[in-house]
Amino acid sequence: MKVVVDPQKLSNEVKKFKGRKKTIGFVPTMGALHHGHLSLIKQAVRDNQKVVVSIFVNPAQFGPQEDLKKYPRSLKKDLKQCLKAKVDLVFVPDAKDMYPQGHITFIEAGKLGQQLCGISRPGHFRGVVTIVAKLLNLVDPDVLYLGQKDAQQAIIIKKMVNDLNFPVKVKIMPTVREKDGLALSSRNVYLNQEQRKDARVLSEALSFAKLLIANGQRNTARIIEKMKQLINRKKHAKINYVAVVDLEELQNLKKINKNCLIALSVRFGKTRLIDNEIISYV
Ligand code: PAJ
Repeated sequence: MKVVVDPQKLSNEVKKFKGRKKTIGFVPTMGALHHGHLSLIKQAVRDNQKVVVSIFVNPAQFGPQEDLKKYPRSLKKDLKQCLKAKVDLVFVPDAKDMYPQGHITFIEAGKLGQQLCGISRPGHFRGVVTIVAKLLNLVDPDVLYLGQKDAQQAIIIKKMVNDLNFPVKVKIMPTVREKDGLALSSRNVYLNQEQRKDARVLSEALSFAKLLIANGQRNTARIIEKMKQLINRKKHAKINYVAVVDLEELQNLKKINKNCLIALSVRFGKTRLIDNEIISYV
């Protein structure tokens, strides 16, 4: 397994794969790898002859009040996990090389970036699509692997790939969860014991919504109200949003009359967690 820091060197290494006509799978991450990331990496290893993982805590997607400085970093452990998973190349760039002085070009995520998480994180998705576009240009993969856990991000990146004609297939992998339902996230380490207990409510609220829908409820205001009631029973939970939106424009739906996304964001202390479920309309 090669570990490359220099973007130019990465391009050269990738060209060697291409010369040998290998298909390349790419998994972009911010590190602090957990089984969610590993599920993407394992799928990429199954599907492709070469796999590239990037580990880069991207400053452009963090707001000024956000956790860029204290975002968990565990590079040594991450590299061990990548080696074990049979990754071929890990790209670990420095911020000064990805955003050298004078870097002024950014990609906008448009309206999609202003809904859901974009409301409380202005500029976040602009930072995400910009770094993913830069990484796609450097790695030039055949398949890009993303997690359903970040549903809005996956939808926005898919749109960017389509809008900007990136010749890459996007594969979205299911959310990996703890036994009690909490979606794995690098930020879960911020939770204290009580907050961790309360955080189960994210997946519980989604299961409850699915049950209501299975029992015939189609009115999204009712569903959201019931989910909020459940979440508000937890002492440490502060709701950021609970929403039912369509899968293309991420617009709020009044009635469930097509496939949709139930998404929620809840704060536990200073830690903001997200989760979601896709509902297939039948
Ligand atoms: P990060 O949060 O490290 O996540 C990297 C990838 O792992 C994303 O595609 C995310 O959706 C996926 N992932 C995270 N938790 C998961 C889980 N529990 N189950 C399945 N997949 C999971 O998302 C980012 O980094 C960044 O925004 C990035 C795309 C790398 C751009 O900087």
